[in-house]
Amino acid sequence: MYLGIDIGTSYTKIAGLLEGKWVDISPEEMLIPTAAAYLPSTDQLYFGNLALRLDEPGADRVFFFKLDLKRYVDFQLGPYQLREVVEGFLSFLYSQYIKVKVPHIKSLALSVPNYFGLKSRQILLDAARTVFGLTDIYLVPEPLAALIAYNTLNVRQPLDGTILSIDIGGGTTDFSFLDAASDMQELILESQFQIGYDAFSGSELDHGIIRNIFVPLYQMETGQRIPEKYITGKSLLAADRQLYNFWLVEAEKLKLKISRNGYAAWYLSDFYKGGSISSYINQNLFLKYLEPVYSKLQVYCRSFLRDRAALLGLVAGDDWHLDYILLQGGGSLAPGVKQIIAECFPGIPVIISDSPDLVARGLCCWNAHYLDSHTSLKTIYPFDFYREIYDGLDNQTKLEKIPFDTANLELDILGRYKILTFSPEINGDVTPENELSLKIYEVAQGEAVITQERFLGMEPVLEVIWSEKEIPVDINVYLNMYNCSLETDTQAAGPIWPEKTIPMFRDLFSRQLESLKLIENYKHINPDLIKDFAIHLEKQKHHAHAPYDNHAQTVIYKLLCQLQILDSK
Ligand SMILES: Nc1ncnc2c1ncn2[C@@H]1O[C@H](COP(=O)(O)OP(=O)(O)OP(=O)(O)O)[C@@H](O)[C@H]1O
Ligand SMILES: [Mg+2]
Repeated sequence: MYLGIDIGTSYTKIAGLLEGKWVDISPEEMLIPTAAAYLPSTDQLYFGNLALRLDEPGADRVFFFKLDLKRYVDFQLGPYQLREVVEGFLSFLYSQYIKVKVPHIKSLALSVPNYFGLKSRQILLDAARTVFGLTDIYLVPEPLAALIAYNTLNVRQPLDGTILSIDIGGGTTDFSFLDAASDMQELILESQFQIGYDAFSGSELDHGIIRNIFVPLYQMETGQRIPEKYITGKSLLAADRQLYNFWLVEAEKLKLKISRNGYAAWYLSDFYKGGSISSYINQNLFLKYLEPVYSKLQVYCRSFLRDRAALLGLVAGDDWHLDYILLQGGGSLAPGVKQIIAECFPGIPVIISDSPDLVARGLCCWNAHYLDSHTSLKTIYPFDFYREIYDGLDNQTKLEKIPFDTANLELDILGRYKILTFSPEINGDVTPENELSLKIYEVAQGEAVITQERFLGMEPVLEVIWSEKEIPVDINVYLNMYNCSLETDTQAAGPIWPEKTIPMFRDLFSRQLESLKLIENYKHINPDLIKDFAIHLEKQKHHAHAPYDNHAQTVIYKLLCQLQILDSK
């Protein structure tokens, strides 16, 4: 059985594929709330629907802990750390839904948003390895899984070319540009942007329903005002938050009814301070009341997304160079969403998927059909790495960016890449204790200013210390995408996907020598320039096995030579 688990911000979806047939793993509740609660009386964690229902004084509840994985890995629920919450949640999924239906799990894939850093990915991977007792567990970026599912389920009309995937989830909306080669042998995730948490998403519509429908209705019917803090839902005390959460649940029900039937009637007794509200609304009115929320989606597509797409050469004027838009995620089924997207991208076919477990199915299809056929799944990894360097001269550490650009290079999702090679300088890198310490930090790409203070209190993604006698001559650092880790040669490296150490720049140095040989034959190039280039390359000889630091200088020499050739006519 191939198993796919898509941990969403609001709901978790599970899919299973056995001998080419889908297995109903959670038929009654296709959607499992990604929620956890801690009860002090039992000192236990509870998950899913039960976590939403349980209540007692001092109970601690968390709805969107997937967002904490991204932002706040130090998060705690009662005395439990985030990694324990994640492990507990996966154990709950296994014992509650999977164990009874699945006699033998062949392999497991979990979805991951591309903006999860190595630490978040490791928490997920470690928890899954512990709970399922498997080593072969894969993390697949969500939009790739969605496209794989769509194309496997629609073999006759698969989507190829350049595809914009728009995933409108519970707490977030993700936009990703994907490239699918026509033979489907290569799928590439080029870039992924997440719309701000409070901009447009399924739950933002729910907040909008409270703000623009429930509260004004209550105030109109009773003549009493509801304090502002209830309207924003922010800075609420525990008891108030409980009331607000009840409103959110009712708002979601209203939204789902409108979406299914085109209208909804509701009655909420004891809405606020004993007062009730009831009304009827049709789709047109709903769209009118929630116009401010919908307009955020419109503004995002027409401004920020357009600017980013322009940088990627995917739009010029009103002309989008896209082949398809794949609209998915529960929020995309809300009334009006498809129309807004169609208006923002005129002429581009919008394919909407109403299968809530599309991503989870994609995870199974990838395992079953793609993994063995060596289809390559590539993605950028939108993070920068910084190495802490000990400066022997002023006895201080400083941070230096590692130039390997994972944020723009397309990396195989199972690949292992050498991102740094250096030879420790005994007088420079070694600390007064005669140790060599290698610390590497990770920062999301596009973070504004990277100052020394930015790294205070941050945990490195790689930390190795060598004593004086153990210091290697050369140190290589690898990014292992399969294992979601950074590792060196000398460490007990994590699992490597077979034959997946991928040299990024094969024979880099010998190819520069070949360039020199070629250039030497051109009579229009200044011989002094060629001589300088040869001297420059001679100096790089001892770096021949590694990408050398001043490659930019090499490129400049080659460009100057080229300019002289062009100028010679
Ligand atoms: N038919 C529908 N009409 C309108 N909204 C819907 C419908 N079905 C689900 N939703 C909304 O979609 C949201 C959940 O979507 P989904 O399950 O795709 O999100 P997620 O996977 O949990 O989040 P993410 O992908 O952002 O991590 C909820 O806000 C839910 O109310
Ligand atoms: Mg999702």
